[in-house]
Amino acid sequence: MSRSLKHGREQVSIPGPSVIPDRVLAAMNRAMPNIYEGELVDTSHSILADLPAIARTEGEVFITVSNGHGAWDMALSNTLSRGDQVLVLESGLFATAWGALGTTAGLEVQVLPGSDRGAVDPGAVEDILKADKCHAIKAILVVQVDTASSVRNDIGAIRRAIDAAAHPALYMVDCIASLACERYEMDAWGVDVTVAGSQKGLMVPPGLGFVWANEKAAAAYEHADLRTGYWDWGPRRRRVPHYLRYCGTPPIQHVYAMRTALDMLAEEGLENVWWRHQVLAGAVWAAVDAWSTSGQVEHNIADQAMRSTAVTTVLTGHADALRVSARDDAGLILGVPLTGYEHKAFRIGHMGHLNPPMLLGTVGTIESVLLSLGVPLDKSGVAAAAAYLAPHLAPT
Ligand SMILES: Cc1ncc(COP(=O)(O)O)c(C=O)c1O
Repeated sequence: MSRSLKHGREQVSIPGPSVIPDRVLAAMNRAMPNIYEGELVDTSHSILADLPAIARTEGEVFITVSNGHGAWDMALSNTLSRGDQVLVLESGLFATAWGALGTTAGLEVQVLPGSDRGAVDPGAVEDILKADKCHAIKAILVVQVDTASSVRNDIGAIRRAIDAAAHPALYMVDCIASLACERYEMDAWGVDVTVAGSQKGLMVPPGLGFVWANEKAAAAYEHADLRTGYWDWGPRRRRVPHYLRYCGTPPIQHVYAMRTALDMLAEEGLENVWWRHQVLAGAVWAAVDAWSTSGQVEHNIADQAMRSTAVTTVLTGHADALRVSARDDAGLILGVPLTGYEHKAFRIGHMGHLNPPMLLGTVGTIESVLLSLGVPLDKSGVAAAAAYLAPHLAPT
């Protein structure tokens, strides 16, 4: 027995898996249905029909029974061939990790080096593509949001750079940390393949991956020799039997969870979901700005225009002590620093099913723990976050 304030519902403020809405959890809690026909099959077809709108595409979607890595693999294996060159646009950890998966599969991966404190430079993309006169590069891989650095790349601007170089490579974007958090316009931004997972903005437990493909990607599929039996788009395209949609037994509870999450997103409206993320992120940034005046804390991404609205990486020498005390003394779980940020950063996830009381609880607890550790703070981040939220509480 020990005296502690941590008893109560633990608040998990990590950049995914995110909080699962009670409605989604309730939807999963059901007896085993008929998997051959009826409600499950109809529900599954309905989520396949509704998912393209979430990525803002007319293209088709494939569902993987996997985490995001599986979706990465599906995207590469259905569009590329052994020995193909791909260009990875570095901006933190995740695009290079996607590229590393490609290396294992037999792709030749070239990395355009980037900063872990800023977005991909579209000018540098244009230059490297212009230099590839024989069009050896077959695909360009980038993340919309890097969950390690919390940078947001300008996907439309990178498309314009590819067009300026008149380069035909497939444009593939990882939206695992950003879909249903950040504005994303797959078709309008000329993206050929989009990848996401269920466990972040989509508010469903980990276990589903999504790959959206346009016609150009579908054409690449025809001669892709990295295809494997399990990930192959071909059989999954056929609507009958439903079993083939998932190359095996459907992920039944996840199908119901996804249906409910899509209903919730539709009820709120995707534009409003993006707006809510923008406002809640603004409150986090206001708090970090206030704490920063003491010189003890700093945004990893200084330029607000390059910041993700789903996750914020905060640099501070107090990061480890903060995370441990927040967890053990206050019941708040913060995101761990990923490779390269060890002992100098923590991350606040602000994605998915989130509102002001949850967010202010996180910000207030961080401030309280920093004070308990003796970190001198000139200004209150809680006050700054609350003041930032105030004008947004009753939008016209
Ligand atoms: C941007 C991004 N890409 C890919 C991944 C990998 O996804 P998963 O861990 O579900 O395989 C993550 C996981 O956090 C991510 O944030």
